[in-house]
Amino acid sequence: MAHERNAEIELRLLIEAIYLKYSYDFRDYSGASVKRRVAHALRQFELKTISALQERVLHDPSAFMQLLQFLTIPVSEMFRDPGHFLAIRQEVVPLLKTYPSLKIWIAGCSTGEEVYSMAILLREEGLLERTIIYATDINPTSLEKAKQGIFSMENIRGYNENYLKAGGKRLFSDYYTAAYDYAIFDKSLRENVTFADHSLATDSVFSETQLISCRNVLIYFNKKLQDRAFGLFHESLCHRGFLVLGSKETLEFSGYKDQFEPLVKQERIYRKS
Ligand SMILES: C[S@@+](CC[C@H](N)C(=O)[O-])C[C@H]1O[C@@H](n2cnc3c(N)ncnc32)[C@H](O)[C@@H]1O
Repeated sequence: MAHERNAEIELRLLIEAIYLKYSYDFRDYSGASVKRRVAHALRQFELKTISALQERVLHDPSAFMQLLQFLTIPVSEMFRDPGHFLAIRQEVVPLLKTYPSLKIWIAGCSTGEEVYSMAILLREEGLLERTIIYATDINPTSLEKAKQGIFSMENIRGYNENYLKAGGKRLFSDYYTAAYDYAIFDKSLRENVTFADHSLATDSVFSETQLISCRNVLIYFNKKLQDRAFGLFHESLCHRGFLVLGSKETLEFSGYKDQFEPLVKQERIYRKS
């Protein structure tokens, strides 16, 4: 019991120390998830207490960068939840085609799989050339990987299946060159993409957008931080703009529920009211 209480205190102190020292704000992330991530990090660092981890990250910025990999969960895949991308293609794209130019914000883009998926979909629908994509994340290592667009060949078979289920119109292999164990994605896909460091916890809106995709990010936030993010999205989206979330995320319990209406409810696609 006392041990658990100590661990809770140490966890709060660690999160506070990270905020004070590095300005990364995890204070309003879901407690259970942060606890799991830190426990995992402790095992990898081979440390016994969270206090020891705090001391390490306070005095060693490279240890903090390592810890950030645990705290940010850089997991993604191409055309993740293919039904979602199919719904974007069928229900959202026809409406996007009515705009002369488009700005799309992919918030929490991780290592870029979602960005390349969106770019491929837009290219096939004739929209990529008139679109600017802002791809943002707080993890600089993930952003660097996203910029390179090189993904493990091991995953390509699964991505190919997702692509086809998502209504892909060509051969998935048209978009990359295979080199040993890697697939190097066509750099024309990211010609209109700006990758940038942006935190939904601490930063503000930077542009008006027509569509925002924020998938599998808000599940790690508490309700207060989710509402902060929804506030940013509401402010950034143009009149009748689109907001798309991950399969386990919803606007249903947020303070912004009435500011959006579902367009394809089961695929978490909303439109600004
Ligand atoms: C599980 S990944 C989701 C990746 C991608 N959106 C997808 O659905 O496949 C979660 C991402 O959210 C990012 N993230 C966490 N906190 C964030 C914040 N405050 N602002 C922006 N991105 C954040 C993490 O760095 C991580 O890359």
